[in-house]
Amino acid sequence: MILLSPEAETVLRARYLREDETPELLFRRVADYIAGAEAGYGQNAAQAAQAYYELLASGTFLPNSPALINAGKPKAQLAACFVLPIEDSLAGIFDTLKHTALIHQSGGGTGFSFSRLRPEGARVGATGGAASGPVSFMHIYDLATQVVKQGAARRGANMAVLRVDHPDIFTFITAKRRHDVLNNFNLSVGITDAFMEAVKQQADFELINPQNHTPVRTVPAREIFDLLVQMAWENGEPGLFFLDIVNKANPTPALGLFESPNPCSEQPLLPYESCVLGSINLTRLLTANKGQRVSLDKHKLTRTVRLAVRFLNNVIDINSYPLPEVTEATRKTRKIGLGIMGLAELFILLDLPYASQEAVQLTKDIMQAVTTEARAMSAELGRERGSFPAFADSIYPRQGYEHMRNATVTTIAPTGTISIIAGCSSGIEPLFALALTRRVLDGRLITSVNPVAVNYLRQQGLLTQAVNEQIALAGSVAGLALPDRVKRVLATAHEIEPAWHVAQLAAAQAYTDNGVSKTVNLPKDATCEDVARVFFAAYDQGCKGVTVYRDASRDEQVLSHGVGC
Ligand code: CDP
Repeated sequence: MILLSPEAETVLRARYLREDETPELLFRRVADYIAGAEAGYGQNAAQAAQAYYELLASGTFLPNSPALINAGKPKAQLAACFVLPIEDSLAGIFDTLKHTALIHQSGGGTGFSFSRLRPEGARVGATGGAASGPVSFMHIYDLATQVVKQGAARRGANMAVLRVDHPDIFTFITAKRRHDVLNNFNLSVGITDAFMEAVKQQADFELINPQNHTPVRTVPAREIFDLLVQMAWENGEPGLFFLDIVNKANPTPALGLFESPNPCSEQPLLPYESCVLGSINLTRLLTANKGQRVSLDKHKLTRTVRLAVRFLNNVIDINSYPLPEVTEATRKTRKIGLGIMGLAELFILLDLPYASQEAVQLTKDIMQAVTTEARAMSAELGRERGSFPAFADSIYPRQGYEHMRNATVTTIAPTGTISIIAGCSSGIEPLFALALTRRVLDGRLITSVNPVAVNYLRQQGLLTQAVNEQIALAGSVAGLALPDRVKRVLATAHEIEPAWHVAQLAAAQAYTDNGVSKTVNLPKDATCEDVARVFFAAYDQGCKGVTVYRDASRDEQVLSHGVGC
């Protein structure tokens, strides 16, 4: 019998379990199906299935949701992330819209760059009329997404990127100013080094028509940047996607450039590539040395990474992709994205404040260990099963690798749902609150206090009735008379200085092949300068992207609309 939290039971029952399926049977179904691929390489599939089952059922590692939901179905689609190209023609735009619908139906999310589309008002040769511009087409994609409910009760999610030098950039930045539009899209501005330099130098910046690569007009770079900051301050969007940083890390430049990541922005992909993600729950990898403090068990971490890389490789082998173009592009590079979750709770278990140099270093060390071991495993699989087909043209031979099964091995996903199933904090985010109130099916409100935080207080002899009640009420220990260290260890997302959020994001990125999903939280009274500081810090520290969220900004937006920071 697997022990699951009530939240995990609810999520599984709502979206993951089939009729008459128990959680045990779900994990068996997934483990058996994925292990099936081992047989093709002359390996013992039954043995692999048992190892995978133990990994999943213990909540030590979980693949992205489509793998849990679809494994075992005929033509099962198991990947979460896709990127599609949008060509500057009516046929191209609507071909991709059709492809998008098919991917959403299969359970995947899609990212696109709208940067190739000619700007609003540009000439349309066929009709002699004027083009309606990228943002208007985004609305069509949004509506289509709304209508096509995903296969497994999950609505499609989209990412739209527009390059910062596109003439419609102002319309794009303010596209979600109204609350009721583009709700199936996350927006990111594709930022170039040239733009950041122009902002720093207070210089002018050219906006270029992608149709003929000619400058349309010149604006002060600050004008774009300030509007971007203002909108991010107002409602957390758009985010920033650092195109040049991302493309410097492209493992297969011969195959093309990155234009967009997936919906939650952690996975840059080439046009038509897909990627399967999986995350290791760090709180399951602890060891207690004879009554001493717990520590991360390196041996368990290594073993888990190796199994997870094998698992994700099998997923690529047996995945049934919704489009032939996706099959081809994905099999050429065989990208996998192994990441971590439960980081914030690991810190609490180790008595470390999220906002500390020690914790930042630990994040770096963990991702270095994960990526190093995942690469070693990928090289081993490459030797056994063959390198990914685009290997010869990739960066790896130059780095001395003789084999590599995957062009990338690590990504840090949001783990929005799988962290609930695994019973840990999501991705690398700090705890949002120490207590969460949710409405159960019969309408009652139930407050659950984070068990790791409660245990921490209990172990310190600080868990009184009053403390418990205050946590349930406020979701935080900030207002309590507790030792400063305890308050720092239990600090929640909005109590942590934005600079520490960025430091953790950059630390995680340092050894992660793909991107990192993380929101930089800001207090409600943060200013536009604070937002700008976060953007510069993320860029200067080599992050591939950054998203901010100012406390309560979306709730208050209706009232404060138009009010500046
Ligand atoms: O936890 P889970 O595997 O369900 O997903 P996640 O880690 O929160 O998100 C990983 C990726 O799944 C996202 O970046 C999207 O590409 C995709 N996704 C989606 O397509 N639709 C959603 N509603 C949520 C996530």
